[in-house]
Amino acid sequence: MSAPPSRDLPPTIEWAGDHVRLVDQRRLPAELVVVEVRQVADLCELIGALAVRGAPALGAAGAMGVALAVVRGEDPAEAAAQLRATRPTAVNLAWGVDRALASADPVAEAVAIAAEDVATNRAIGVYGAPLLAAGARVLTHCNAGALACVGYGTALGVIRAAHEAGTPLHVWVDETRPLLQGARITAFELGWLGIAHTLLPDGAAGSLFRAGRVDAVVVGADRIAANGDVANKVGTFPLAVLAHHHGVPFYVAAPRSTHDPATPDGAAIVIEERDAEEVTMLGGTVVAPHGVAVYNPAFDVTPSALVTAYISEEGVERRRT
Ligand code: MRU
Repeated sequence: MSAPPSRDLPPTIEWAGDHVRLVDQRRLPAELVVVEVRQVADLCELIGALAVRGAPALGAAGAMGVALAVVRGEDPAEAAAQLRATRPTAVNLAWGVDRALASADPVAEAVAIAAEDVATNRAIGVYGAPLLAAGARVLTHCNAGALACVGYGTALGVIRAAHEAGTPLHVWVDETRPLLQGARITAFELGWLGIAHTLLPDGAAGSLFRAGRVDAVVVGADRIAANGDVANKVGTFPLAVLAHHHGVPFYVAAPRSTHDPATPDGAAIVIEERDAEEVTMLGGTVVAPHGVAVYNPAFDVTPSALVTAYISEEGVERRRT
């Protein structure tokens, strides 16, 4: 079978001379809109609102935020502190901020981080694609595609690399409540790329496993602790338990910048808690009683014992514990 042509989305985030341009992911899938950002405070607000999201994209955004401060003649250290405070779980954000801050030329460093991200993700794809057999039915959660990175994607990069190599696949897409990154963004990307996929409510994953209809799980990560525990979008851990119970491989695809040797294990990872309204409202409609108590963690932690292998730009590393 001949390989299908590669179709790239616009860069998720890019440096445009003296400002930042980014895809406003809140408007997907209805509109693919690129917005210009000229102020650090505006970038911080867009990060907090998930207009730009996904660990590698946050790494580039953090670096570009420091670059913005430099071109505007503002204090880069102050900007760095504001940027780091926007979202606590994805280590890439602080990693990108720190890399730009430590550089003699933060603008050039931010541009380099963005370029490296795409190359890194392509390498992840090269290493990960052979793990997916022809005809594999692959479950993914949240969005770890081009739009979660500067381009190409990590977990979706693996799927995409297999597809580009001519491997037939079918992707199960968890909708990913409460903010629907799977439904709004992953399904959009897979449609854009022409990769066969089916969207499901998160709660339907168990019956798919039980029916023997999942051959592999591939997800991204926001932080991988020194012992291999993985923080990723809330709902990832139950999938790892299901995969383990049913003997299905569970792969984590993430760049080395997501590995955090300074965090010993999952218990030490700060999990972001987000507004109750993300759960009590859906598409502008109230879907829960006024004043109901809400638990809305943005991420969960999957113990390393449930991870079959980590796929990075350096290769495939089997489970650590
Ligand atoms: O809250 P989000 O949308 O930023 O969460 C994103 C995820 O959990 C992704 O799976 C993770 O950042 C990996 S992106 C390659």
